[in-house]
Amino acid sequence: MKETEKIIQTLLSKMSVEQKIAQMLQVSYTCVSKEEAFLWAKRGVGSFLHVLGDEARELQKIAVENGQIPLLFGIDAIHGHCLNHHATVFPTQLSMACSFNPEMVKEMASATAEEVSADGLHWTFSPVFCLGRDIRWGRVTETFGEDKYLAGALGKAMIEGYQGERLSDEGSILACAKHYIGYGEATGARDSYDTEITERKMRAEFLPPFEKAVEANCATVMTAYGSLDGVACTTNKRLLKEILKDELGFNGFVVTDWDNIGHLIYDQRQAENYLDASEAAIESGNDMMMYTLAFFENAVELVKTGRIRESVLDEAVLRILSMKYELGLLDNPFKQARQSRIGCEEHIELNRKLTEECVVLLKNDGILPLKEKKKIAVVGESADDIRRHYGDWTYFTHPTPNQSATPVRPYVTLLEGVQNLAKKHNMEVSFAKGYEVLSNELNFVEEAINAAKDAEVIIFACGDTFEQTGEGKDRAELSLSYSQRMVFEKLVETDKPIITVLISSKPLCVPEIVEKSSGFLTCFNGGMFGGEALAKVIFGELNPSGKLPVSFPYHVGQQPCYYNSLPGWHCENYVDMPKTPLFAFGEGLSYTKFAYSNITFDEKTLELQVTLKNVGEITGKEITQVYFRDLVSSVLTPVKQLIAFSKSELKAGEEKRLIFQFTEKDFSLVNANCERVMEKGKFEIMVGGTSNYDALLTTLFEK
Ligand code: GLC
Repeated sequence: MKETEKIIQTLLSKMSVEQKIAQMLQVSYTCVSKEEAFLWAKRGVGSFLHVLGDEARELQKIAVENGQIPLLFGIDAIHGHCLNHHATVFPTQLSMACSFNPEMVKEMASATAEEVSADGLHWTFSPVFCLGRDIRWGRVTETFGEDKYLAGALGKAMIEGYQGERLSDEGSILACAKHYIGYGEATGARDSYDTEITERKMRAEFLPPFEKAVEANCATVMTAYGSLDGVACTTNKRLLKEILKDELGFNGFVVTDWDNIGHLIYDQRQAENYLDASEAAIESGNDMMMYTLAFFENAVELVKTGRIRESVLDEAVLRILSMKYELGLLDNPFKQARQSRIGCEEHIELNRKLTEECVVLLKNDGILPLKEKKKIAVVGESADDIRRHYGDWTYFTHPTPNQSATPVRPYVTLLEGVQNLAKKHNMEVSFAKGYEVLSNELNFVEEAINAAKDAEVIIFACGDTFEQTGEGKDRAELSLSYSQRMVFEKLVETDKPIITVLISSKPLCVPEIVEKSSGFLTCFNGGMFGGEALAKVIFGELNPSGKLPVSFPYHVGQQPCYYNSLPGWHCENYVDMPKTPLFAFGEGLSYTKFAYSNITFDEKTLELQVTLKNVGEITGKEITQVYFRDLVSSVLTPVKQLIAFSKSELKAGEEKRLIFQFTEKDFSLVNANCERVMEKGKFEIMVGGTSNYDALLTTLFEK
C-alpha cells in the first residue's frame, strides 16, 4: 500500500461514524448563523463554501483546535476570484472561449488560483463543461459555447492552470468539472429540467469534455441538478459510479450541486424524505453533499439502522481525505499564497492581454477602424455600466445579489475606452444612455438624439441585463429590450453610420440591428478590460482575432441552431426563415485577410497539412479550424465536427505550413451499442477560419 494510502487509512480508522458523515457535508457559510458555522467547524464538517479570507481562517482555527480534520473552503471563482471585490475580474468563460487560446486560459486559471489561495481558500467550482447549445438557457455565459472539442480543450487547460504542477504548491487549488452531465441540454433549455438524451448521445456529445477533465486529473466533479431521461443525476449510479469512477477512472471526489438532495424531494419528487434522498445520494456515488444540513442526522440514522454500510461511507471519505492530503491541507491547514497577489499588476496585465483576444468582429462595411472622424456619439445603457461588462458570478451577483456594490478600479468601460482613445486622436465624444423612464413613461432623451445628429459616427452599446441571465433565468425571447430597440430606431433616423457593440452574456437575436449597422462587434461580458479592448478594435489599435464559440441565431425560433447538426431535416428550412444562423460558430473578421491553400492528408499517418497566408496589409492572428465529416456512418453523425484548431500570428505577406496530427479516435463515433469506433468508409476534412462550409478548403480520404 502506498505511503499516502497508509496515512489516509490510519486517519480513517480513528474517525467515528459522525465524523465520517460530517466530512461528507459542505455547509454554505452565508446560509447559517456564525454560531452554527462555528458548531459545524467544531463537529468536523468537511467543507464550507462562500466564505472569504479572515472568516475562513477563523473557522479553520476552530476545526484544528478541536482536533478535527482541516476544513476545505470552496468558492465560485469562475472567471477570476470575482466574489472578492479586489480580485482580478477576467472575461466570462463564454468570452474567453472567443480567444480559442488554451495557453492564455491556463494562465488565467493559474492567476485565479493564486488569488483564491491568497484568500485562504482551496477549491473553485470551475470550469463548466456543459455545452451552450440552446442559448435560451440562462447559464450559456458560464460555458465555453456549443462545441465539445473546444470545451474539452479550454476546460482541460483551465484545470491545469488551477491545479498547477502539484496540488500541494502554495498557489494551487482544486478544480471542479461541472455540471455532470447534460445540464445545458434540458428540454426547452429550462434550467435544472429533464434532459432527454440516451446513453449513446451522452457518450457521443456530452461525455468527451468530462473525459478531458479526468485526463487532466481534475480533483472534483459536480453532480448536475437535472435528470437524464427521467432519472435524477443525483441518483444515477450508472453515471456517477460505473461510468465516471469505474470506466473513466476518476479518482477525485464528487460533490452535489446546491441542495441536490433537497431538490430530489421537493422538486423532482423522486424521494419521499431526507432519509430516502440521502440514502440514494450516497449509494449512487455522491461523496460530498452541498448545502443540505439535514443530510447529517439522516445519514447517521441510515448507518445506525443498517440501511447504509459504513464501508460505503469509507469510500467517499477516503476520496475526500485523499484530496485534502494532496492539497497539503492535513500538514498545513493555513496554507495560502501571499495576499498581495489578489488583483496584482501581473494579473491585471495578463487580463488585458487575454481580453484583447476575446473581441469578435462580425460585420464591417469599411467603417472600421475609425479614421478621420471628428465627432463620436456614444449611445446606450451598456456603454458605461461596468456590471454589464462583468457579467454573472461577481460580487454584484453572488453569494447574494448586490447591484449597488461599489465597483473597484481598475476597470475600463466601453465609454471610457472610447474617451481615452478619442483624446489621442483629437476626436470629440458625447455620451447618452438614450432614454429614461419617467413615471413609467419611456422618454427618449432628446439630447442623445441631438448629439447623434451632431456626430459623424455613432457607437451604439447594447446588451442584456442582470435580470435576464444566470441560474434560473432562462429566456423564451432573445431580442434586445424594447427601450434599446427604440433608441436604435431613433439613431437610424439620423442617417449617421452606426457601430453596434454587443455587451451581453450570450448572443441575442438582433438581425435588424446588424443589418442597419455599419459595424458589429462583441466580446460578450469582457470583464475589467472588455471596454478597453473593444475601443482598441474600433480605433484600429488592435486587430481583432476572436471567433464565435456559439452560433448567433436570427430568431429564438431557430433554437437550437448549433453548427454540428445532424443530417436528415426535410427541406432543411423553416417556411418562415432560413435554418442557418445570423453568424456561425467559428466566425470572426480581421482587419487583414487570410488565405488557405495546398491541403494534403496522409490517410496512413492521419497527418493533415495546409498553408496559411496573410494576404492582407497588416499583421493579424488567425484561428485555423479543422472539421471532419464521416460521410456514411452506422448512426447519424454531424455534418461537421471540430477536431483541431490553432492560432497563428502572421505579418502581411507571411505564410506558414500548418501540420495537424490525428488518431483514429479523432474520427470516431459512438455506435448503437455505445462503443466508440472509427468505422471504415469515406471521410471529408475541412479547414478554414470559420465553420461556414463555403469558406472551407476540403479534401477526402478513405479508411
Ligand atoms: C449553484 C450552481 C453551481 C455553483 C454552486 C455553488 O447553484 O449551480 O454552479 O457552483 O451552486 O455556488
